[in-house]
Amino acid sequence: PPMRPFVDELPRPPVVTGSHLDLVAYTTSHRFHRDMPAVPAFGYNDQTYLGPTVEHEAGRPLTVRFHNRLGDHPFAGDIDTTLHGVPESYRTTVPASLHLHGGVTPPASDGHPERLVVPGQHLDHDFPLRQSAGHLWYHDHVMGITRANVYAGLTGMMLLRDEFDTGAPDNPLGLPAGEFEIPLVLQEKLFNPDGRQSLRSTAVVPPGSWEGGAVGDVGVVNGVVWPQLPVARGLYRFRAINAASFSTWNLFFGNRMRFWVIGNDHGLLDAPVPVRNLRLAPAERIDLLVDFADLAPGETVDLCNDEQPVFQAAILGEVAMPVFCRFRAEDRTGWRGPVPQTLRGGPRQPAVLPPVRVPALSRTLTISQPYELRVPPAIMSLNNLRYSDPDIDMPRQGTTEVWNIVNITPDPHPIHIHLVDFRILSRTPLRTVDYQLAHPQPPIGIRWTPDPEGFLAGPAQPPAPWESGRKDVVRVDGGTVTRIVVRFPTADELGFDPDASFPRIGPPMPGAAHSAEHAAHQDSDLRGFVWHCHLLDHEDHDMMLRFRTVR
Ligand code: C2O
Ligand code: CU
Repeated sequence: PPMRPFVDELPRPPVVTGSHLDLVAYTTSHRFHRDMPAVPAFGYNDQTYLGPTVEHEAGRPLTVRFHNRLGDHPFAGDIDTTLHGVPESYRTTVPASLHLHGGVTPPASDGHPERLVVPGQHLDHDFPLRQSAGHLWYHDHVMGITRANVYAGLTGMMLLRDEFDTGAPDNPLGLPAGEFEIPLVLQEKLFNPDGRQSLRSTAVVPPGSWEGGAVGDVGVVNGVVWPQLPVARGLYRFRAINAASFSTWNLFFGNRMRFWVIGNDHGLLDAPVPVRNLRLAPAERIDLLVDFADLAPGETVDLCNDEQPVFQAAILGEVAMPVFCRFRAEDRTGWRGPVPQTLRGGPRQPAVLPPVRVPALSRTLTISQPYELRVPPAIMSLNNLRYSDPDIDMPRQGTTEVWNIVNITPDPHPIHIHLVDFRILSRTPLRTVDYQLAHPQPPIGIRWTPDPEGFLAGPAQPPAPWESGRKDVVRVDGGTVTRIVVRFPTADELGFDPDASFPRIGPPMPGAAHSAEHAAHQDSDLRGFVWHCHLLDHEDHDMMLRFRTVR
């Protein structure tokens, strides 16, 4: 399709505020580029793609009534009915759920993948938001078709504010605000010749089958293909997210200029970190300051990527998705303030990084791609288990644990844990072949989490400076042991019982009951949360597990 880059202006999703909100998911028709027709998509409220940015004050409760008014699915032909017994009917009667990613949320309101909302129904969500200011986002999380629902458009941002990061021009930290603070929902997509979005990236896998990685060769920002933004010559604050399905990007500006990371998933860092590039995996959020003051009027600079997954290279050839958007300097001065010296850790603000306390327990978890007899013959797995397996992790409330996440695949997987935030300790290269030879992987369904000690291939690498602070997603690079430290809060701290049971909505997953325990899980109420790989294709099959925190 004739998609010239940098013609449409970057839109800003509308902002909604209030303590009672409605989010209504619709099947829509969305124009991704002015030269293309409007094509089938999903959106919330009056948006034809994505949802509004919810701005809210940390510590104030929010209720959201989520309505499913979805019609036909834009990717009806790609729905794989072998995953979790997804029925044929999902093509026309599309279930959805609403998860607030990064929210410290009671289990019944967390958008559990088995608590689905069918068309015509709604569900009320309580978000206490007893947590610090930060950059949250909401998205669909329904069992077996999350990848299709999110790619179609079911995602949006939430900015949590506090008395320092107020979002107002007179904020005490001196951060760019108003027109100079801009959300960037970064995505990559493939489009068919007729202009429709494509979830299929290879001809190798039969139509209708799960493919394992929806990649793209077109940059989409805030729902527009390769937009451009006129900027004033001054400082901007960009609240960016990798909202792609599969790809980790190495982001940089085309002129290789320096920029500053001031925050990530759960709020501001202690001080700005200058960088010239950074790797951002799906679901990671990044808060950036970019200074356009040195550009001449009319000069342009592009936001670029030069990382390409091996798998993607095989499909699309050379650097598949090299650019997201273009900024063009106008002849006007903008935000006048300098880059602040300190953020958190500054005057009156507590530092974001208290010392790491001695952990109560260390737990090893694995990321692998075991063989499975189906076409395509692969399943993505955590701990060599399937989602439905009963062998789940049950950390104790009030304890701190170190998780050693062992990735024996060659690719990065962004691991996300609901309910909690954590800090990244290190990444250490692993002798994966020796590790696997010493500990042969049993058939899927049997926990496989051997200790990586003795198979480490070098010193532990500290996280990048910008990765410090409180995270809820960690990029676990291929062939590494990535260590995080995570504290599981008590019911008193949370203000709710994190282990309360709540009703399943909708049918038990049919056709997947492979054990008595699983059958019981399918029939009973639900409990707990999930942790998973945030590659959307992976969490659908089957790189997502339940967990409970117990007293
Ligand atoms: Cu972004 Cu389990 O979610
Ligand atoms: Cu993965």
